[in-house]
Amino acid sequence: MNIGIIGAGHIGSALATRLVSLGHSVHIANSRGPDTLTEVAKKTGATPVTAREAARHGDIIVVTIPLIHIPDLPKDLFADVADDVPVIDTSNYYPLLRDGHILELETGELTESEWVQQHLGRPVVKVFNNIYFDHLENKGLPAGTPGRISLPVAGDHEAAKQKVMALVQELGFDAVDDGNLHASWRQQPGTPCYGADLPADKLREHFANLGTERTAAQHAEYLANHAKQERAMAAQDKP
Ligand SMILES: NC(=O)c1ccc[n+]([C@@H]2O[C@H](COP(=O)([O-])OP(=O)(O)OC[C@H]3O[C@@H](n4cnc5c(N)ncnc54)[C@H](OP(=O)(O)O)[C@@H]3O)[C@@H](O)[C@H]2O)c1
Repeated sequence: MNIGIIGAGHIGSALATRLVSLGHSVHIANSRGPDTLTEVAKKTGATPVTAREAARHGDIIVVTIPLIHIPDLPKDLFADVADDVPVIDTSNYYPLLRDGHILELETGELTESEWVQQHLGRPVVKVFNNIYFDHLENKGLPAGTPGRISLPVAGDHEAAKQKVMALVQELGFDAVDDGNLHASWRQQPGTPCYGADLPADKLREHFANLGTERTAAQHAEYLANHAKQERAMAAQDKP
């Protein structure tokens, strides 16, 4: 497939490396332009391009930039990209360390990917947000291997979601359907599956226990869990 990746950091580079090794044609972009991607190209085998070019190189497009920068992307980025091309969103909301406070995410009115979708003006499929970049690059296993990590995939468009689930399987992970984007709070930071590298049966068990409509108590609990994780990360970075 032709795959365009917007964002050439931890996740963008990990995905590019794996996708190129599987034989896909990958074009990759950052905010500063293709000239600044020589090292990334050498490491991953992907072709450096502009974000607009990456958006047009696609059977599948991945947007993997810090959530707070999503509104900086050009409003017409996907203007002439065919409707059946899935756009993957890998975002997580890190209010304390990176993104500042975003009202709709604090209140729980929107899930993180619903917020991203509104800003992109384009339906998205949420995946790769709950796995550490190094595990995404190095922990994929053949289907059927005991302990294979599963990844939740959420989206409102069934055909796009199925295409992305097939790619997840190809990358070496069990793809588990997490329902529509409104239910995708179940894979956000602070929830039981965030960074937990769970096998598919455990992930499905969590989803069955959590339900699909987020309660106020669940929202408060997961925000608090994540704030604790962010504070621990900040403390680790201190000299
Ligand atoms: N790190 C992880 O293990 C991990 C795991 C799962 C999900 N995530 C989530 O995935 C997203 C990306 O994370 P990351 O760790 O890969 O980020 P990162 O390492 O900080 O890299 C961010 C990339 O986004 C690019 N970028 C920023 N603004 C842009 C714009 N307006 N147009 C085009 N490119 C832009 C940056 O390019 P420049 O350098 O040129 O600005 C950089 O290449 C975040 O939401 C993160 O929370 C991360």
